[in-house]
Amino acid sequence: MALSETDTATGNQNSFVYVVAALAALNGLLFGFDTGVISGAMLYIKDTFDITMLFGQSIHPSLVEGVIVSGAMVGAIVGAALGGRLADRIGRRRLILVGAVVFFVGSLIMAIAPNTEILIVGRILDGVGVGFASVVGPLYISEIAPPKIRGSLVALNQLTITSGILIAYIVNYAFSSGGEWRWMLGLGMVPAAILFVGMLFMPESPRWLYEQGYKETARDVLSRIRTEDQIDAELREITETIQSETGGLRDLFQPWIVPMLVVGSGLAIFQQVTGINAVMYYAPRILESTGFGDTNSILATVAIGVVNVIMTAVAVALIDRTGRRPLLLTGLTGMTAMLGIAGLVYYLPGLSGGLGVLATGSLMLYVAFFAIGLGPAFWLLISEIYPMEVRGIAMGVVTVLNWAANLLVSLTFLRLVDVIGQSGTFWLYGILSLVALVFCYRLVPETKGRSLEEIEADLRNTSIGSDSSATDRTDAVQTDD
Ligand code: BGC
Repeated sequence: MALSETDTATGNQNSFVYVVAALAALNGLLFGFDTGVISGAMLYIKDTFDITMLFGQSIHPSLVEGVIVSGAMVGAIVGAALGGRLADRIGRRRLILVGAVVFFVGSLIMAIAPNTEILIVGRILDGVGVGFASVVGPLYISEIAPPKIRGSLVALNQLTITSGILIAYIVNYAFSSGGEWRWMLGLGMVPAAILFVGMLFMPESPRWLYEQGYKETARDVLSRIRTEDQIDAELREITETIQSETGGLRDLFQPWIVPMLVVGSGLAIFQQVTGINAVMYYAPRILESTGFGDTNSILATVAIGVVNVIMTAVAVALIDRTGRRPLLLTGLTGMTAMLGIAGLVYYLPGLSGGLGVLATGSLMLYVAFFAIGLGPAFWLLISEIYPMEVRGIAMGVVTVLNWAANLLVSLTFLRLVDVIGQSGTFWLYGILSLVALVFCYRLVPETKGRSLEEIEADLRNTSIGSDSSATDRTDAVQTDD
């Protein structure tokens, strides 16, 4: 059957939207690569540099190692803190370009670093780039995407985060025989360069343009990503939301926005304190204790990376159909159960053979449940639940919390294992997953299928600050199409 003119037009707009979103999702690749690469590189950096000295002072090597590893997270906290504001000020597209350059320079510095101090500078810069990328990637995609496929398009960013982690694991494996850590870290320049060059050809977010007063340019951009009749409706909606806003930082603390700050902050913290990065950063170490040898635990880590990517792809396919809440709640239920089982397996004596397999299996399923729910849902929801005028700042604030919680988990994991044991640590993360489940069930709204302006209008109209439960708000933003 021949396509009508409108069908063809919609098809063209949609394919361009996919191109823009896929390219912007490379922000996630920088993020994921940076997360996955350091554990492999660190093994060999120790052979090149004397890590018992820093700035001429003798320092405990594990502290120096900690600074190198967590330097990127400190950078990311700074990047996310500045990134939200910058995204509002200089625009989404320009910030993506700046982020790519910063990440590129950071990776280059690490690759050629003559000593530990310069390596740390490169690592922090890399982190700043990742901090920018983690705020602006989802933000930009959510503003470009049509409501019906916004969930999948923003979740693409999580798909590239997980792909970045997997690629880094593979790169680590490939360069491990020669111990070539400079190559491991330097390869980050490749995705950064592709992101930079690609973004030069991509448009600015029409919502940002319109709010800045570039109305004609906003219309031009929309004409490339929407059909004619959609453009007018969307511009009308954008105008209405902009007119009904008072402007300024104070907006963030208006009574009707505060509950969404609570939701975003809660999601940000729970996404980390339920332990995902203990597994991402320390998987080989955790798996070694189940009787795997060195090589096998690295391979099992790669397998965890693969599960993470595959289940994130499943979430991308489902999230606009099922909605955000069902995936989030299912994911958290599964994470709680798997952490309970993993804790139990580590509690039993003689962790090898069948129990070793059970331990590995429960960790893989734990990652699978994270990948289908909390992983993508966090980044998606925070790009949806804030009103236009404070969207950048609000996302910046909750992203800072996410990175801070990430830093906290990675700094405390090994110590926790010392103090309360491996099983106690898993159970602790399990209890926190259960708390997260209750939190999400009570407070997280459904945003499926609504335009960002509709979500905003619905939240504004729901009496907030009263004891309206999440279910009221959920209804308020529930799709009916
Ligand atoms: C989290 C990261 C984590 C990754 C794992 C992301 O959504 O923010 O901290 O490493 O998922 O897939």
